[in-house]
Amino acid sequence: MSSTQTNPVARTVASTRSEMTEIILPNDTNTLGNLLGGRLMHFIDLTGAMAAYRHSRTNVVTAAMDHIDFIRPVHLGDLVTLKSSVNRAFSTSMEVGVKAWAENPRTGMVAHVASAYLVFVAIDNDGRRQHVPQLIAETPDQIRRYEDAMRRREHREAEAARQKEARLATTAQKEKAANQT
Ligand SMILES: CC(C)(COP(=O)(O)OP(=O)(O)OC[C@H]1O[C@@H](n2cnc3c(N)ncnc32)[C@H](O)[C@@H]1OP(=O)(O)O)[C@@H](O)C(=O)NCCC(=O)NCCS
Repeated sequence: MSSTQTNPVARTVASTRSEMTEIILPNDTNTLGNLLGGRLMHFIDLTGAMAAYRHSRTNVVTAAMDHIDFIRPVHLGDLVTLKSSVNRAFSTSMEVGVKAWAENPRTGMVAHVASAYLVFVAIDNDGRRQHVPQLIAETPDQIRRYEDAMRRREHREAEAARQKEARLATTAQKEKAANQT
């Protein structure tokens, strides 16, 4: 896929902050009346995309969602609030952090239910990748997340390379076995 150069200005982490709240209805739940994991992932994807959209000011697609833990169940009638912001902008991609909390509206109890890191890629209307603005991390927390995001990127790249090597080795083994029969 080709990419085009735009003239992005730098933007702060604060300017990417996004939030959404959903009430959990019967269609969102499993047979125990708890929120479906896939539905929560959908909310996470949407909230993450909002932050990436605010940063890039163009279309974004989800390239990856990292390991996600569902820390505790979310129940029918709970309010789920998700917050996101861009952790780091690279060339055409951005890492976004998303955190989700569930609130029991009857008791007012709020609990952290999930967190995830996602990578979005900026795309123009013709499907070409777009360069994204640099990100300005201002607070100590933002600077820590900015630095951690580079470590996670290196880890993702190393894992992708390992998987590619494993696939090539499997294909070579299969070809060798086929040639011996
Ligand atoms: C994501 C996508 C645009 C990447 O396109 P590509 O031509 O493979 O681009 P490249 O490999 O050159 O990578 C482009 C950028 O994406 C990043 N990227 C690509 N795949 C990635 C992955 N699996 N995880 C994290 N980052 C990834 C690269 O690091 C690079 O970032 P940079 O420009 O900031 O350095 C393409 O794979 C795609 O369109 N995927 C489908 C997206 C989609 O439909 N999402 C919804 C799925 S349900």
